[in-house]
Amino acid sequence: MRLNTPRMTVIYNACMKASKSLIRDFGEIEKLQVSSKGPADFVTAADKRTEKIIIEELLKAHPDYGILSEEIGEINKENKDHRWIIDPIDGTLNFLNGIPHFAISVAYEEKGEIVCGLIFDPIKNETFFAEKGSGAFFNNSRIRVTKKNKLKDSILVTGGPKFNSPRKNNIFKEYIEVSNLTEANIRKFGSAALNLGYVAAGRFDAYWEWDLSLWDIAAGIVILKEAGGYVEFMEPGASSSFKRNVIATNSSIHEELKRVLIKKNIE
Ligand code: IPD
Ligand code: CA
Ligand code: CA
Repeated sequence: MRLNTPRMTVIYNACMKASKSLIRDFGEIEKLQVSSKGPADFVTAADKRTEKIIIEELLKAHPDYGILSEEIGEINKENKDHRWIIDPIDGTLNFLNGIPHFAISVAYEEKGEIVCGLIFDPIKNETFFAEKGSGAFFNNSRIRVTKKNKLKDSILVTGGPKFNSPRKNNIFKEYIEVSNLTEANIRKFGSAALNLGYVAAGRFDAYWEWDLSLWDIAAGIVILKEAGGYVEFMEPGASSSFKRNVIATNSSIHEELKRVLIKKNIE
């Protein structure tokens, strides 16, 4: 591992330990797809199992640190200066359907700023990680965002809208509008964390999505920034502090993409 700082080592070890059980669980999914009950309950259990291992490992290293994790919620809530932010499985719908595209995402936040993050795709054995000021890495190589500077030539990825999203229609309109400005089809891969990792690694040029939660994107934020990308939140109205509407790009196409998105959804 190229970044063997104490914090990164703690996150890395926790993710590696948890991923062993997650890979085993993924192997069971195929069998469950054909059972009458389906795999939904099993997936919920797998999510909780993964989360438990990660939290145990992180608390072993720092028993007093705060934790925000998707399934369990908050632990050591009073510690606002040091906090882990965890999504045990990002891309649950993929996992549930036996699609090998999901990840564990763990970030560390210090005094309100995310300074360290790791996203691990256990099936492809791909790790995206970064610590503030030290650059971003994919497995053991340094990564940078792409240099493309025209939306027209870019490969974009998005996600959603959620079934109950109040701005569903606007999101579809926006999708059409952005599609008309790019030559390549827009991708929808189903994992916010990996979408950010992929922009950081230069696989995509930009990602945007509405109504995300902090745990979906916390690790990806620092990884993308350290790779030279730009992450911006658009929070129209009084959306909950947990809801994040994100535009994450290679920097160069940021303004061009933002102009289309803001026109459709905020004004
Ligand atoms: C979801 C994924 C998905 C995004 C959803 C998220 P989950 O997280 O990141 O890509 O479109 O908004 O909720 O439920 O798989 O952890
Ligand atoms: Ca998620
Ligand atoms: Ca999740």
